[in-house]
Amino acid sequence: MIKDKANIAVFISGRGTNLKALILRSKKKSCNYKIAYVISNKKNAAGLKIAKKNKILTKIISQSFLKTEQKKLAKILVNKDIKFVCLAGFMKILSPYFLDFFKNKIINIHPSLLPKYKGLNTHYRALKAKERFSGCTIHYVSKKLDSGKIIEKRKVKIFKKDTVEKLEKRVLKEENKLYPLALERLIKS
Ligand code: GRF
Repeated sequence: MIKDKANIAVFISGRGTNLKALILRSKKKSCNYKIAYVISNKKNAAGLKIAKKNKILTKIISQSFLKTEQKKLAKILVNKDIKFVCLAGFMKILSPYFLDFFKNKIINIHPSLLPKYKGLNTHYRALKAKERFSGCTIHYVSKKLDSGKIIEKRKVKIFKKDTVEKLEKRVLKEENKLYPLALERLIKS
């Protein structure tokens, strides 16, 4: 049993499968982190229901709050003793102030083998380019989109008959496995 589990804030905008995977893992006695806060920029994000079901504190932030109140947001997280911020399908850009404040403490999961296919529609682009592999990447969040230092990657094979939906499903399965493990390893290191 780990006594001092690191408090984690997860930022979401939607579905929340990665959030769910992070929560599930956090319930293990041997896990070194605890999801202490879930922040969403969408009030109807499905992930919020997952957080509430697991009795995790949630907060909805508006676009204007995100833009103008980054100091306030940083303060809220400090007060909750947040050690790492995990972006999990969070579709907004964080300010330079916030990124500097939590330097090397904000990580993201991206559905491609970075540095390939930054941005959106990664699966479509990987298929179109006839890649043999795709996958997912955990990386630090920096000021340039999907360009921060890479922490871990996991490869997924692309099959000839793959569609965007099929590939997305297989990559997501790996994302859900990788994120909790990578976070645990990061906290340990
Ligand atoms: C994932 O594919 C993640 O890599 C990307 O956004 C998606 C979020 O999915 N950044 P979920 O909300 O965690 O299910």
